[in-house]
Amino acid sequence: MCETKMMKLMERSSFLYIHGDNDFKMREYYNTCGFKLGIGVNPFSRLGFGAAVWEAARGLCQYFEKEELIFSNKKVIELGAGTGIVSILVALLGGDVTITDKPELLNRIKRNVSFNIPSSFKPQVKVRALRWGLDINQFPSDYDYILCSDILYLHGSIPLILETLLHLSNRNTIVYFASTMFYGQEVTRKGHVTLSQYFKTELVCRYDAEDVNVYRMLLNTANTAHLPNLYRRGWFHMRLDHSKD
Ligand SMILES: C[S@@+](CC[C@H](N)C(=O)[O-])C[C@H]1O[C@@H](n2cnc3c(N)ncnc32)[C@H](O)[C@@H]1O
Repeated sequence: MCETKMMKLMERSSFLYIHGDNDFKMREYYNTCGFKLGIGVNPFSRLGFGAAVWEAARGLCQYFEKEELIFSNKKVIELGAGTGIVSILVALLGGDVTITDKPELLNRIKRNVSFNIPSSFKPQVKVRALRWGLDINQFPSDYDYILCSDILYLHGSIPLILETLLHLSNRNTIVYFASTMFYGQEVTRKGHVTLSQYFKTELVCRYDAEDVNVYRMLLNTANTAHLPNLYRRGWFHMRLDHSKD
């Protein structure tokens, strides 16, 4: 695990206000892994949570920088990407990236992709709708990496995120999952406890000041070998609903 006390979360280096743009009110700049990323945000958007760069996204970028991770020729998917900052960085680090979120977020993600990624890289980047639990069958299970940041904050999402992760993973897939632990409090902690029943989970980095944890997860094949048919039949939802009590 990286040194907990020493790790400082990546901060935006500067920002500028944008006038007359319905999508973005500001562009925030972040320096990471040798790149300067300009990310359009809109703190007042009705799209709410997906229109800002959350702490856990900054934590993942910082972690990738510290570990000097390279994603060349790796197939990567991000869930609940929001502004797309993490996937944009991973694409610049060589990854073949599928950026996903709810349909209404996709145009803004595409704009952030266009702003940051040279056209020669563009074939490596796809932006697609993936609503957890609903659209999963349109996606394969051959990803090298799955990325998630600050997506565990609604109780009802836990089984959907679990189902989505199980669908997208194979025994070699590495999931990097960052969460700001105090945001969802009960939900976030409970979500990670639930996920750790099906994924071998290691806390690989922590940012104390912001209470951000970065987990590295691998499918626990011993606990999941029997699952595919069961979760399609709604077994997870039943089981997790009972486990609330
Ligand atoms: C708190 S934001 C985090 C955004 C980004 N990952 C970050 O850390 O900056 C949560 C994201 O999850 C997405 N989301 C929420 N519910 C979803 C669902 N059911 N299916 C897909 N995405 C969802 C939201 O649209 C939003 O972009």
